[in-house]
Amino acid sequence: MTGSKVPLLSVLTGETCAPPPLWLMRQAGRYLPEYREVRKTVPSFLDLCLIPRLAAEVTLQPLRRFSFDASIVFSDILIMPFALGQAVAFVEGEGPKLDPIRDGAALARLDPVVAATKLSPVYETVERVVAELPAAVPLIGFCGAPWTVATYMVEGAGSKDQAAARTLAYRDPSLFQAMIDMIVETSTTYLVGQVAAGCRALQIFDSWSGSLPEDAFARWCIAPTKEIVARVKRQMPEIPIIGFPRGAGPSAVRYASETGVDGVGCDTSLPLAWIAKELQPQVPVQGNLDPVLLAAGGPELDVRVGQILAELGRGPFIFNLGHGILPDTPIAHVERLVRLVKGDSVA
Ligand code: CP3
Repeated sequence: MTGSKVPLLSVLTGETCAPPPLWLMRQAGRYLPEYREVRKTVPSFLDLCLIPRLAAEVTLQPLRRFSFDASIVFSDILIMPFALGQAVAFVEGEGPKLDPIRDGAALARLDPVVAATKLSPVYETVERVVAELPAAVPLIGFCGAPWTVATYMVEGAGSKDQAAARTLAYRDPSLFQAMIDMIVETSTTYLVGQVAAGCRALQIFDSWSGSLPEDAFARWCIAPTKEIVARVKRQMPEIPIIGFPRGAGPSAVRYASETGVDGVGCDTSLPLAWIAKELQPQVPVQGNLDPVLLAAGGPELDVRVGQILAELGRGPFIFNLGHGILPDTPIAHVERLVRLVKGDSVA
């Protein structure tokens, strides 16, 4: 590998890197004491996302501790409904709460034009972070996939089964389509804005894609993601995009071929041999260590990291978790993970 190469970007063009690049979903956050310090200084989590000086600081915190190969903008997927004008609050210990949108009148109150201006603090965060990062560490911009964002907008909270959004999608598909189209439009502007400000890769989080049967998955997960990818690439053809269809199972193959993403994030449940045989020959893959195993640590962690490297490290691969890092993860376990992946000696 030459000195000018950026491993994460190389993998997303189909190259194999040894060792593979490594970053962790939600790598900034509550497991870091320095994050909790900054978080204490603002009344709400959304404030943290919208004050560029603070958001940039917490974005950079994990990079100071760990030699990760990418940084990810500190924000949240629910900044999208907030920007569109829906009331969004993060309630301590309860997760996000939103005023649910279940009819045309509520949808009509949202405003994509205003959204574009409300998202601009994130672009300033990007500019601040990029000014500090070494050239080999790209900053990843992101948004939630329309389906996942819509589940929160309709439900008004997180849920086990996304039943409210599924019900609306089945009962009133044209209203649901109008909501999805609005999210596609605003998310495209948002991703392009993050790239214009300095992001060198993008990720689309579809955390709840696993709750839909195949036709609905094609309509509400694949089609809107494909639309965002096409629109972003029309303006920025070179930008690599990772899609993370969590829970998609074997439908991840169809997702990869139809959306046009440059990489697919694999959740913890996908078998390594299946990923290596069915997905990786078609598209670079990312994943899929169990975040609970990283928090647990011990010999099982070492064994599993070895298995993931052995199965997926032979092709284009980005080491990551299968879902976001947990707040109770010991820092020593993350340090050990970095040594294991980078092939440094471990005691
Ligand atoms: O990866 C990073 O470091 C960047 C930051 C990031 C956050 N959320 C910060 C955050 C990213 C990429 C996200 C994505 C996100 N947010 C997703 C998709 C990925 C996934 O986990 O499935 C989803 C579904 C959300 C929505 C969300 N945000 C929920 C359900 C919650 C509450 C649950 C929780 O973990 O507290 C959040 C809050 C949130 N987003 C926190 C952080 C650091 C914790 C808030 C706090 O500090 O009080």
